[in-house]
Amino acid sequence: MHRLAQLDRTYVWHPFTQMRDWLKREPIVILSGKGAVLRDAAGREYLDANASIWTNLHGHNHPRLNAALRRQLGKIAHSSALGLANEPASQLAAQLVRVANEPRRTATREPHLNKVFFSDDGSTALEVALKLAYEFTRRTRGPKSRPRFLSLAGAYHGDTVGAVSLGHIDLFHQAYGGLLFRSDQVMAPYCYRCRFNRAQPERADAREYRRCRWECVTRVEQQFRARKKRGPGYAGFVFEPLMQGAAGMIPQPVGWLARVTELARAHGALLIADEVMTGFGRTGGGGRLALGRRSVALPLFASQHEGVQPDFLCLAKGLTGGYLPMAATLTTQSVFDAFLGEYEEFKTFFHGHSYTGNQLGAATALASLELLQRQSGQSARIRLEHALTRELQSLWSWPWVGDIRQVGLIAGVELVRDWRPRTPFALRERVGIRVCEAMARRGVLTRPVGDVIVLMPPYCTTLTQLRRMIAALHDAIGQVLSSPV
Ligand SMILES: Cc1ncc(COP(=O)(O)O)c(C=O)c1O
Repeated sequence: MHRLAQLDRTYVWHPFTQMRDWLKREPIVILSGKGAVLRDAAGREYLDANASIWTNLHGHNHPRLNAALRRQLGKIAHSSALGLANEPASQLAAQLVRVANEPRRTATREPHLNKVFFSDDGSTALEVALKLAYEFTRRTRGPKSRPRFLSLAGAYHGDTVGAVSLGHIDLFHQAYGGLLFRSDQVMAPYCYRCRFNRAQPERADAREYRRCRWECVTRVEQQFRARKKRGPGYAGFVFEPLMQGAAGMIPQPVGWLARVTELARAHGALLIADEVMTGFGRTGGGGRLALGRRSVALPLFASQHEGVQPDFLCLAKGLTGGYLPMAATLTTQSVFDAFLGEYEEFKTFFHGHSYTGNQLGAATALASLELLQRQSGQSARIRLEHALTRELQSLWSWPWVGDIRQVGLIAGVELVRDWRPRTPFALRERVGIRVCEAMARRGVLTRPVGDVIVLMPPYCTTLTQLRRMIAALHDAIGQVLSSPV
């Protein structure tokens, strides 16, 4: 066993990992990367098919990002945001405000997002939004009010205690029930397994052939109404726009987001958009851009596809192009103003982290934003998105593929025992994990969400590399599911 693998096994505790399983085999130790390729300690190469857990945008070792990082390193790596401003964080805040309020993107351009609170990770971006929304509500509705939040069934918003309180995946959240505050959940679209979808399964994305009466929207409306009857209504509505990630890459049918956010607004709830996964161009043309429209500017944020402007926009993962842990929570002037006061009034937002506004992260994020806005990069992303749609079709040949869902450059392939009755596999069969292990043996790395295989290629992925990713998934499904457990 490689000495680094030995050190890992002796000392490192990995996230979301059953360490008993981990200790049974030699881990892959990544030493370097270039573009969409990762290289391990034995010199083997792998394609990074989930963009290093949904973070990487432009590929590894990108010359522009490296140069920006080096330039910043030549000046300073970090100084505190407590009592000090700094160069790249100020510039980045201005850029984020600019792109978040892109005028052509939202129906109303309101509310205007013009303040940026930096933190470190997706979880902390949500934690900040939650605390701000909570306190803002108390200050506007009165100190005795007890702000309550509504989020979606299956939601995952991170692992800090506030973020966990907004989540509704029992596997991750139940164990910590005693630590959490109560939040409500409401039905989220899951067309493939929706009890209101009266269509028989077809060999297509379930959103395309669904037959329903938008009961998922009605449920949201009922939930808001019911809450209003009992009191002042929800303080905030928290959602991932267009696609729920850790819930199992579950996309929303076109129009759902605009409808439910309109309902939330009508009931006085603040909109908290978690774009930790969907942000920075991941949702591409939203599946709606025709090939050939090369000069079109792609929305950077998923909410913009449906003209939705939240009161809080939570960003992380791709913010630095997948280089460094950094997050941002954008909000409005009115939220900001509610925290203004005399020193002795203690209206201050008492929250912050040691590395808030870190210069290395901010400098890299600025370079990443610049790359994202290049026309050539946007055209390449549209081409890759269409290629992904095309290549995924080959997977329908397997009877174990129940649903293939794609939004932009995010795809989830749900594996089932039998596609006609949509029968899931038993948990102990570990089908998702085994398929991903078989993909790794074919030189392609990704992680499943249950039995949903996730593909989220870096934007620099070539057509040949994309084909290799899909071919590895195709063959891995065949190998794992054609042979007995
Ligand atoms: C939608 C969403 N929100 C929040 C988070 C938490 O982000 P982090 O792991 O950076 O804390 C994640 C992580 O996967 C996520 O997918």
